[in-house]
Amino acid sequence: MQLYFSPASPFARKVRVSAIELGVAEHIELVPVALSPVNPHAALRAHNPLGKIPALVSEDGQALYDSPVICEYLDHLAGGGRLWPAPGPARWRALRRQALADGITDAAVLVRYEQTVRPEALRWGEWLDGQRLKIHTALDALEAEPLDGPFDIGAISLACALGYLDFRFPQEPWRTGRARLSAWYDALATRPSMQQTLPA
Ligand code: BEZ
Repeated sequence: MQLYFSPASPFARKVRVSAIELGVAEHIELVPVALSPVNPHAALRAHNPLGKIPALVSEDGQALYDSPVICEYLDHLAGGGRLWPAPGPARWRALRRQALADGITDAAVLVRYEQTVRPEALRWGEWLDGQRLKIHTALDALEAEPLDGPFDIGAISLACALGYLDFRFPQEPWRTGRARLSAWYDALATRPSMQQTLPA
């Protein structure tokens, strides 16, 4: 299998963390791509018409995207039910947390692109504020809910979202006033899968 990825991509990190946790990482060849919204990548688009990473090309040549689909596929390869709890409250909690965490990451990546890719004269402060509001409202909701439980797809997604905030926005500390979330993340960030996938 080939995984099109960038070391800085939080969604690709989510796939790589999942692969390590599931014990299937050695079956994945990492194919680095450098891309931005204004620098599409022809080889990647041949597999994913959206031109986005992560994209996985399976052994039978099928392209899979985006990160929830790839992670579920890897879970299936590892026997199923490892990162996706069986139908029931634990599953809906994990899937909802994945959606919330991926939403944080989406907003953070948009902020990053706005700050680094868009020409300075075209930047839109209110739009940036709107993205930051999504991030901080979601973090407050997570601070207020129980965080215990297995390192399932919801927890992996959230750990990668928080890792991306640390990586790209060290000047905008998310930990202030969120001691529980901060302690939860600090404990999980020591896992080998998180350490091995730290963005450079
Ligand atoms: C980044 O450099 O922050 C980045 C790279 C790839 C995808 C998303 C974000």
